[in-house]
Amino acid sequence: MARKVIIDCDPGIDDAVALCLALYEPRFEVLAITATGGNVSPQQASRNAHVILEQIDPPRYPRLGEASLHHLPRTDAKQFHGHDGLGNSGFRVSDLHHLHPSEKLICDTVRAAPDEVTIITLGPLTNVAAAFQRDPELASLVDRIIISGGTVTASGNVNPAAEFNMFNDPESARAVFRSRTTKTLVPLDVTQQLTLTLDFLNHLPKRGTSVGEFLGKIIPFFFRAYRQKGQESIHLHDVVTLFAALHPELFQTTEMAGDVETSGDLTTGATVFDRRLTPVWRPNMEVATEIDVSAVTDCLIRGLAEVG
Ligand code: RIB
Ligand code: CA
Repeated sequence: MARKVIIDCDPGIDDAVALCLALYEPRFEVLAITATGGNVSPQQASRNAHVILEQIDPPRYPRLGEASLHHLPRTDAKQFHGHDGLGNSGFRVSDLHHLHPSEKLICDTVRAAPDEVTIITLGPLTNVAAAFQRDPELASLVDRIIISGGTVTASGNVNPAAEFNMFNDPESARAVFRSRTTKTLVPLDVTQQLTLTLDFLNHLPKRGTSVGEFLGKIIPFFFRAYRQKGQESIHLHDVVTLFAALHPELFQTTEMAGDVETSGDLTTGATVFDRRLTPVWRPNMEVATEIDVSAVTDCLIRGLAEVG
């Protein structure tokens, strides 16, 4: 039986790679892709989710949720993903009509399959928090939520304290961290261990395939952007998070009590964990602490070959 998943994302190039793998994965039934602002504006994120579906033409089309315009991200990551979020590739897309808001699509999808749906969040937690607010029982009806973001001991990437997804909507992140849902967090401590050099371009699906054509257009931009920041390799944070759902055997996790700072000039968006010798906070999530980096890299390369 394929695992029912919702993928909430702010595409974004690493989101896009994760979506390519997920949408061609026979062990996943991707019921919905719900867009949220983050790497790019909410409007652009909704458009990009649609572009990705049209470009890669997956075997099964999920429903598409439109990012909320009510919450504007505090910053963006266009310097890494391009002003359009997909490597300035200039993809055209057919008009989108009558999309449901992402938060409503999350509610409807979970309600239609209570206790069966895994939500994989690859961007700020705006939509999930809004869905939990819209339907207060929803948090207990989600099978598990697997979250890309935060840090335990690693430095932030937006600033020394905060990781991008948490920084962009700390109030929503705190609401989700404090929700009754069973949670797995995949923090930068782990996702930044996957580093890919230019050789990775030789492992993309063949250019004759839809995914090969698409990734061949967006990934080179990512390498140029990272090189402009002085880094010869790229991170695919959201692919690592996807693999926490697909290949959990490659991850070590530990029960932890975590929360999110929502105020403070220097610390807003920081994820804070009670790691005292005798913790007082009640554990509220599984946190990925170690990955088998070479096995994750192999799974990525094999997964892309299968897609091709
Ligand atoms: O901090 C990395 C995360 O922020 C990734 O999900 C990336 O796509 C951005 O959303
Ligand atoms: Ca993302």
